[in-house]
Amino acid sequence: MRNKLLTPIICAAALATIGCTPANNDSPTNPTAALASVQQEITQQTKQQSLSDKYADYFLIGAAADQGSYITHAELLKTHFNSMTTENEMKFESVEPTQNHFSYEIADKMLAFAKSNDMAVRGHALVWHRQTPDWVFFNDEGELRSKDEVLAIMKNHIDNVVGHFKGTVDYWDVVNEAIMDDGSLRTDKEEADNQKSYWYGAVGKDYIAAAFRYAHAADPQAKLFYNDYYNYIPARQQAIYQLVKELLDDGVPVHGVGLQAHINTIPSSNPEHQSYHQSIDNLEKAIQMYASLGLEVQITELDVSLYIGGNKYQKSDFYTADSIPAELDQKQAQRYADLFAMLRRNRDAISSVTFWGIADDDTWLSEFDSGRADFPMLFDVNHQPKSAFHAVMDF
Ligand code: G3I
Repeated sequence: MRNKLLTPIICAAALATIGCTPANNDSPTNPTAALASVQQEITQQTKQQSLSDKYADYFLIGAAADQGSYITHAELLKTHFNSMTTENEMKFESVEPTQNHFSYEIADKMLAFAKSNDMAVRGHALVWHRQTPDWVFFNDEGELRSKDEVLAIMKNHIDNVVGHFKGTVDYWDVVNEAIMDDGSLRTDKEEADNQKSYWYGAVGKDYIAAAFRYAHAADPQAKLFYNDYYNYIPARQQAIYQLVKELLDDGVPVHGVGLQAHINTIPSSNPEHQSYHQSIDNLEKAIQMYASLGLEVQITELDVSLYIGGNKYQKSDFYTADSIPAELDQKQAQRYADLFAMLRRNRDAISSVTFWGIADDDTWLSEFDSGRADFPMLFDVNHQPKSAFHAVMDF
């Protein structure tokens, strides 16, 4: 991981850069000792400037971890984060793969790690059109189940899952991604299969209120969130505001709104592309709209891609860890700095900011079939703080 070839002079230079002198005046004739003290100094420096400590008076700082990264990235998690979300391990298909058979083993281990490190836990996600097994919506003959059947399956799932994690999960994403880019409700008639909602197909709009009522009954202490993406698109933020306002007017127990915030270093200049609207101002407007309903607001899945949304990239254009242009690295740092300046300004409305990952060596943005690697986090593939980390810490 670290360049074992560092010469004593470089050690000395590195120490000078971070304003440290070798703890025990290691002589240049002992590079290993000098290297060890550089590593110790860097770790000490980073440890002292913990992200979550720095933001302790603002909001929680969270990270999405998976069944591998909560172990491989444990040091970063423990040092810089005080909230955790399981990336996939608490989704419907993971905890109830077959009807009425629940599997909590992996999630339990991950949440035990979180709790033993005093981290808050965000449960993700109870009712979502993706990563939900077909048996939930279709019977053995392949026919769409009735409204009552699907509601009973939803209630049984929530009773069991929320009940199991009662007292451990602080916040639940109860319903995820029920709104489309034009502000309409997601239905089972959407064009792409992976965009269709059979919750809506079988139950209609009522599935949303039902999910919140079931979740509240199962754990009255947990804070219940409606979670969605592209909140910077005016039609979407208005529709989410209207949806949540109607739920509150109907006495449905909703406590907060989650903005996923999967954003780009550079928004698109194409007005047809969703990221064209991706201004910090539009995000701030969404936060203030939802907060005006008396709700908690959280950033739930933050990452800042190096690529411009909608642009075509040849394989030869793909970035690698060693080929990220310094100018783009600086632009990403400035994007993070602008975003966190806005989030700090809205600290009274925001209770948590979660990154959708921990470091650049494990991000969903590098899992596309194209093989394109992305570097959206504050820590690089070697788990070292990037310019973006220092930009977020610089206040
Ligand atoms: O578990 C299977 C494994 O058995 C199989 O060997 C492997 C190879 O195909 O796939 C594994 O499933 C993958 C799953 O992640 C667990 O790793 C799925 O293929 C893959 O599609 C799934 O991707 C997740 C994606 O949600 C699914 O929609 C990403 O990791 C996860 O980061 C992403 O997260 C979502 C949020 O939940 C909601 N908001 C958007 C966000 C990004 O899409």
